[in-house]
Amino acid sequence: MTVLGIESSCDETAVAVVRDGDEVLSSVVYSQVPLHQPYGGVVPEVASRAHVQKIRAVAEEALVQAFPNDPDPWAKVDAIAATRGPGLAAALLVGWTFAKGLALALGKPLIPVNHMHAHLWSVRLGKPELRGADLWPQLGLAVSGGHSAFVDSPAPGTFRLLGQTIDDAAGEALDKAAKLLGLGYPGGPVVDRLARTVPPEARHAIRFPEGRVSADHPLPPGWSPELCVSFSGLKTALLTYVRKHPPQTETDVATICASYQEAVVDALVRRLSHALNAGAYRSIAVGGGVSLNSRLREALADLADKRGLTLLLAQPKYCGDNAAMIAGIASAGLAHPAPDALSQDVDPSLPI
Ligand code: KG4
Ligand code: ZN
Repeated sequence: MTVLGIESSCDETAVAVVRDGDEVLSSVVYSQVPLHQPYGGVVPEVASRAHVQKIRAVAEEALVQAFPNDPDPWAKVDAIAATRGPGLAAALLVGWTFAKGLALALGKPLIPVNHMHAHLWSVRLGKPELRGADLWPQLGLAVSGGHSAFVDSPAPGTFRLLGQTIDDAAGEALDKAAKLLGLGYPGGPVVDRLARTVPPEARHAIRFPEGRVSADHPLPPGWSPELCVSFSGLKTALLTYVRKHPPQTETDVATICASYQEAVVDALVRRLSHALNAGAYRSIAVGGGVSLNSRLREALADLADKRGLTLLLAQPKYCGDNAAMIAGIASAGLAHPAPDALSQDVDPSLPI
């Protein structure tokens, strides 16, 4: 099955064509980062307007790249898939409405996709060798600027949220730290780069809180406090530290970044460890922009190695928001056409 997928949940306008789950025929991403940089974060109104301006050109580019020189490329597309949530309402609406228009005009099925499920599928893109591999039950971590979610996946296409952040996402925590240190936006890649200049023995030079969630914190049914995390205290701890010890040199800034990043990575890996103790898994799948982080990748490889599990990480180009993951999960048959899709609205808080 060949699917054209559309993603517009945040600040990337993306369209891709994927065949049978993992064969990426094209993946075009227009990143709006420069538009949001002056504000130090994503501005929904700016994002939505930029999606409107770019989506048609991005879609045409994805189609032409997938089927160069084909006189009738649309005939090769079996279905249209698009992110219906979670994300920013005004941003989601652009991609979802564009997808409705395409499906209606072309007479093709419309497949609503959950952005978080798609991040967990991103680990399969470009890896046909994993077809038929025994990877389930799978423990998933979707970690980005908007989410830090621990997900139990007993079988392909089935997802149960075990716990997540109760305030800031991991990427958001890194972005806020970078902003506070005057390192620009987005902060994750800069923090990662500076932290790499710090020798391993200095990575814990400053102790930041681990972000534990107390056992009596009210949580939705099915979430365990051990599998939830709170990153907002980390940001406050950084602010307090910087006020007391203003960094004087580049090394000071790098040491702060390394210690802070370590706290984020430790928090994520401890919870994965806890989930692995509680359930039997064959693999760990980690997707989302923060999965690009070099320390997180190291720590995950170490964890998977110790537990004898397969670690699945997305290729770098599929870690951040992209549409190949949307078309991918749909063309794998793990997201389904909804008969009433044309009358469905976006859902900014679509649950996992
Ligand atoms: O998945 P993504 O592109 O968009 C969201 O859905 O949020 O993730 C963006 C997030 C940002 O917070 C960014 O700082 C973070 O991913 N990020 C990183 C790295 N590269 C991007 N965080 C840590 N280390 C990196 N190398
Ligand atoms: Zn995302």
